[in-house]
Amino acid sequence: MIITVTLNAALDVTYRVPSLRPHATHRVVDTIERPGGKGLNVARVLAALGHRTAVTGFAGGPAGGELRRLLAAVPRADLLTDALVPIAGATRRTVGVVDIAGGDTTMFNEPGPTVGPAEWASFLDVYRGLLTSGDARGVALCGSLPPGLPVGAYAELVREARTAGVYVLLDTSGEPLRRGLAARPDLIKPNAEELTWLTGFSDPARAARDARRRGARAVAASLGAQGILALDETGGWQAAPPGSLSGNPTGAGDSAVAGLLSGLAEGLPWPERLARAVALSAATVVAPAAGEYDRETYEKLLPRVQVTAAAP
Ligand SMILES: Nc1ncnc2c1ncn2[C@@H]1O[C@H](COP(=O)(O)OP(=O)(O)OP(=O)(O)O)[C@@H](O)[C@H]1O
Ligand SMILES: [Mg+2]
Repeated sequence: MIITVTLNAALDVTYRVPSLRPHATHRVVDTIERPGGKGLNVARVLAALGHRTAVTGFAGGPAGGELRRLLAAVPRADLLTDALVPIAGATRRTVGVVDIAGGDTTMFNEPGPTVGPAEWASFLDVYRGLLTSGDARGVALCGSLPPGLPVGAYAELVREARTAGVYVLLDTSGEPLRRGLAARPDLIKPNAEELTWLTGFSDPARAARDARRRGARAVAASLGAQGILALDETGGWQAAPPGSLSGNPTGAGDSAVAGLLSGLAEGLPWPERLARAVALSAATVVAPAAGEYDRETYEKLLPRVQVTAAAP
């Protein structure tokens, strides 16, 4: 089993309108709702790959109820365990308005409900229970923190996973990433911007080395269409898709996380893990819905990902 943590889950609502204009009234062509938040995207991809996955984090209010109902209906939902912790506040919505004529999307992201100390304590109980179930192969800590949680929340979750001896991957940004890194996660998956913010270096290889020095045992830096640069104590690898694809890159990083963790759980060596992560994430760019991947594209790309050794 793999655990995904989404502390700031969301009900993703997508409106499609013929053409988006400020100050105007719009006719909505259709509305799509899906469970959102980075760890939920990771979980959906893990289940599609055939991995049993426990989903935890917080859910509350009407949007939280809807999110849980939709989670139970995703493909391969039989592989997903809903271990979300109820909260008094209402789960946020992230609203995307797709301009059909122009093809781009305008996002409105609610900040999320305030999580109280007792709710955080309940979550920690659930999280420890999952970590010590004897069945956990890895945990992914994903996305932003909701209001009310300490900025060191991820650092605490990294320490708990290390104490339980469970491989821990951290995918967040800003100060929660900086704090989490100091708790020595097994792997971080920053994108280029997050890595530069963290280290001050814009050269990815130099920045990844610096991130290891700051506490990450391994770094898998996702570099958009250039693929992934990975470093650990045994070596370095660069994995690149055969070319740049156009589409919707939202959630591509989450598919990369699912590829890395599923590969680890299956005992794949780094080059194969990276090839899977790159093919899955590139296949997410071409899928129209954010955070879903196109299986045919994935299978076609997988043997075409170039993995080369990079300086460690
Ligand atoms: N235009 C593209 N063409 C091909 N592959 C891409 C493209 N953009 C992204 N990818 C793939 O997706 C991976 C993740 O992309 P990116 O670095 O943008 O992640 P991210 O910013 O963390 O995404 P998010 O957090 O929105 O899920 C890349 O490492 C690459 O494998
Ligand atoms: Mg990301």
